[in-house]
Amino acid sequence: MLVDTAGSPGDVIDRSGDPLIRADGVWKIFGRHADRVIGTPDADLPRTELRAKHGCVAAVRDVSFEVWPGEVFVVMGLSGSGKSTLVRTLIRLIEPTAGGIEIDGKNVIGLSGAELLQLRRHTSSMVFQHFGLLAHRRVIDNVAFGLEVQGVPKATRLARAAEVLTLVGLEDCANQFPDQLSGGMQQRVGLARAFAVDPKVMLYDEPFSALDPLIRRDMQDEVCRLQVETGKTMVFITHDLPEALRLGDRIAIMRDGKIVQLATPEELVGSPADEYVQNFIRDIPRSHVLTLQWIMRDPEPGELDGPTLPVTTTVRNATAVIAGSERPVCAVSNGKVVGVVDRIAVLNAIAGEGD
Ligand SMILES: Nc1ncnc2c1ncn2[C@@H]1O[C@H](COP(=O)(O)OP(=O)(O)OP(=O)(O)O)[C@@H](O)[C@H]1O
Ligand SMILES: [Mg+2]
Repeated sequence: MLVDTAGSPGDVIDRSGDPLIRADGVWKIFGRHADRVIGTPDADLPRTELRAKHGCVAAVRDVSFEVWPGEVFVVMGLSGSGKSTLVRTLIRLIEPTAGGIEIDGKNVIGLSGAELLQLRRHTSSMVFQHFGLLAHRRVIDNVAFGLEVQGVPKATRLARAAEVLTLVGLEDCANQFPDQLSGGMQQRVGLARAFAVDPKVMLYDEPFSALDPLIRRDMQDEVCRLQVETGKTMVFITHDLPEALRLGDRIAIMRDGKIVQLATPEELVGSPADEYVQNFIRDIPRSHVLTLQWIMRDPEPGELDGPTLPVTTTVRNATAVIAGSERPVCAVSNGKVVGVVDRIAVLNAIAGEGD
């Protein structure tokens, strides 16, 4: 399996200001009597027991996280772990049972109906697994749809739609209808439609899971490129770990409605929190994800004359240099040596692979 994390511009995320999204103790319990569960020991019951005792389903349990401007925040987990529910509660497509949500400085829970529409039409856009294109409209009108709903004049919205179609490489398909396009192309139209309104936050619910693997990879590259070009903040749901590692700056792993680990790709692969996470990462080649940062040690006196590599180099990409040097390799950040890496460290890093 080929995994690379090159698309994640993680080191440029600025955390000095306010987060763009803040979820604070969010719960979603489907069914009646939800209020009898939250805050009681029963809230921690396994799903089946909770359902048997109270007849309700705890889809999201006490979830808190922050997403920073420009970050790609991935939500991962097995089917039924609560990913879609969680992301939908952020813009109240599903009403959370408890907890606080802030987007772009606004208290989402307190928004009126009109303000909520504003949030869904201007501040955020969502891309779904099934592209949800309007079959009787041309591609360009599909892309312009969000702007039409906003009341943007026709000439302006078509000009913007044409611009965004070019961004996703579909400028030649503007006048076609969705069913004349392949699945991958249709999802590009879905992406273009979401980008057209220039939202602050893009929410993706497994947008590529219906696509075949090669097209899927293309689309991941496309999202990486668009993210780098536009600096959009993204919340991206997937249950495919290579996809999560490629796209995510940070990944939240959900199980039974809870986040069991929230970490960078490297932290996840380097130190999985429990067996559930371990099972996800089992087939991931560690050397493709771990960087020199993860395996370096402090230099001993006289060890600073080896070849240098950026500290963000993956172990895989550093192996040839390290293997070919008698001296430990110096890991460099901002022009300074921050650690050294020798052959033993590389062997230890890859030792856990493929078992
Ligand atoms: N409207 C609903 N009413 C009752 N239970 C629901 C409802 N929507 C979701 N659930 C339950 O909540 C749990 C979480 O569902 P959710 O759709 O968020 O999972 P998911 O992680 O997105 O799964 P998938 O990967 O299959 O899309 C599941 O047990 C599901 O059955
Ligand atoms: Mg889902």
